[in-house]
Amino acid sequence: MQQNSKWVLTNTRFCLYYISVSELQQIQGFLDDCRSRLDRIEFFYPYQNDELQNVVEHGKFLGVYDDDKLIATVGLDLDKTYAKLLADRVSECTKDRLAPHYAYEVSGLMIDECYRGQGLGKALVKEINDIAPSIVHDDWLCSVVQIENVASMKAFLSNGYVLGGVYRMGGDYDFGYFVRPTSGPVKTSDIAEVVAFRDMDKHLEMLSKGAVGTTIRSIGIEYRYLANKPI
Ligand SMILES: CC(C)(COP(=O)(O)OP(=O)(O)OC[C@H]1O[C@@H](n2cnc3c(N)ncnc32)[C@H](O)[C@@H]1OP(=O)(O)O)[C@@H](O)C(=O)NCCC(=O)NCCS
Repeated sequence: MQQNSKWVLTNTRFCLYYISVSELQQIQGFLDDCRSRLDRIEFFYPYQNDELQNVVEHGKFLGVYDDDKLIATVGLDLDKTYAKLLADRVSECTKDRLAPHYAYEVSGLMIDECYRGQGLGKALVKEINDIAPSIVHDDWLCSVVQIENVASMKAFLSNGYVLGGVYRMGGDYDFGYFVRPTSGPVKTSDIAEVVAFRDMDKHLEMLSKGAVGTTIRSIGIEYRYLANKPI
């Protein structure tokens, strides 16, 4: 494992490493174990087939260790086909007001239950923001988040992402696409309105009117209109 020496956290025991293929089994075990303990299992959509291996091998995968215990993960998936699919979905929802060519997925965000609510989630999203520009240059990042997963949505919104697309998969799975250009946050202006978390038709209506989700409120997601010249 290669240590990321730029990592700064208040807890000096924590170290951040780039994960390699030799740690795949440990990572898969960590994700499966943490997911099995979630009250809302649908908040973490598991990697399918070879997806995790592809992220580790061809993208970036980061692990935080407390001494030698793995406590948190996040990945940057560099699969171009999937990045194109996510970008097209955002363009479609926003009627091309946000029009990324590629939106690379930030995936695998998982914090051990004993370490949640201490800012690790936000810090890992920030770390991905920091490393992404040198890897994907002028493209976008995207996180696909179950639309009631408040802690996760906040971790992305507070790092300059906006809700720029939605996808209704069925059952408990309604997803929001939280996106950010690698060059910096999307600029927004006036408040539009607050949309209830699971009101997918209303989310689509707001997105098609040139508004994007920016803030979590108790009853849902607050939308703001895009500034005149979205990036
Ligand atoms: C979602 C998750 C990654 C967030 O990481 P975390 O380290 O617990 O979150 P942070 O401490 O960085 O807090 C992020 C924000 O969420 C808020 N938050 C944290 N836990 C929360 C909770 N249980 N309910 C509501 N808000 C919460 C924090 O106050 C913070 O908000 P702020 O920006 O207003 O300060 C973590 O809770 C987790 O691993 N959950 C299970 C797996 C999962 O859902 N992964 C995401 C898949 S997309």
